[in-house]
Amino acid sequence: MTRISHARTQEAAERRTSLYGGESSRRITVRDIAAAKESGERWPMLTAYDAMTASVFDQAGIPVVLVGDTMGACHLGYDSTVPVTLEEILVLSAAVVRGTERALIVGDLPFGTYQAGPEQALRSATRLVKETGVGAVKLEGGERSARQIDMMVAAGIPIMGHLGLTPQSVNAFGGYRVQGRGETAARQLVRDARAVQDAGAFAVVLEAVPEEVATEITAALDIPTVGIGAGPNCDAQVLVWTDAMGLTPGRLPRFVKKYSGLRDTLDEAARTFAEEVVSGVFPAAEHAYH
Ligand code: KIV
Repeated sequence: MTRISHARTQEAAERRTSLYGGESSRRITVRDIAAAKESGERWPMLTAYDAMTASVFDQAGIPVVLVGDTMGACHLGYDSTVPVTLEEILVLSAAVVRGTERALIVGDLPFGTYQAGPEQALRSATRLVKETGVGAVKLEGGERSARQIDMMVAAGIPIMGHLGLTPQSVNAFGGYRVQGRGETAARQLVRDARAVQDAGAFAVVLEAVPEEVATEITAALDIPTVGIGAGPNCDAQVLVWTDAMGLTPGRLPRFVKKYSGLRDTLDEAARTFAEEVVSGVFPAAEHAYH
């Protein structure tokens, strides 16, 4: 075997690396994501907004971590994603990149940083990639965002689309509602998905859409669909980490499954700490310097 063909065989083997549970410790790239669609491998994605949480997910083997604008509610105390700024996304995306070694990090373009047109989108996405080191950028919208996606992809920026319940449009939707119900809305969603793919995106999030529509889109597209409230037939599934790990207070959407009870764990630990300080149990002898 020549050195070149050996290198090619190795490269092909590397490309076949499983997204979850694979041996490779190099960063996941959009080529790996494309290979997973080809081989039918399903994969998980979680959000993260800080270095430490991201490092836990990275070491657990989560192949794609999204620094989503859900940071607005989950991290910054806003009541929606609408007030999130590019500066906030930049700071937290850089932290997540620093906290991870293997995961592909996707940074979100917040409301008002791409809707004005392709040039604005490219300016925002360029800052996100250059100043933080994220490997890809996400934005909301189908046909309405196709020109933006096209220009960013042409500039060499991998793009993840986002369709269905796009939370930056919450004021236009009149609340957080399932999208794509009924024939007309479903057909528009399919057109949007094709527009995102044709513009060059490497993946598309489908949020809160009927399972049947998500299944149709997943079968029709060559790029993977990432479902959140879109049923079991998407190529990948994403959850907001504070929802999935039980840190978010109050009622959660029905598509969330809680994998942990962090809020109760932290509450109990904080109370124990407080009681031990008040009673003098903490600090004990082993916690003191002499
Ligand atoms: O911002 C975000 O976290 C998202 C996910 C819900 C997909 O867009």
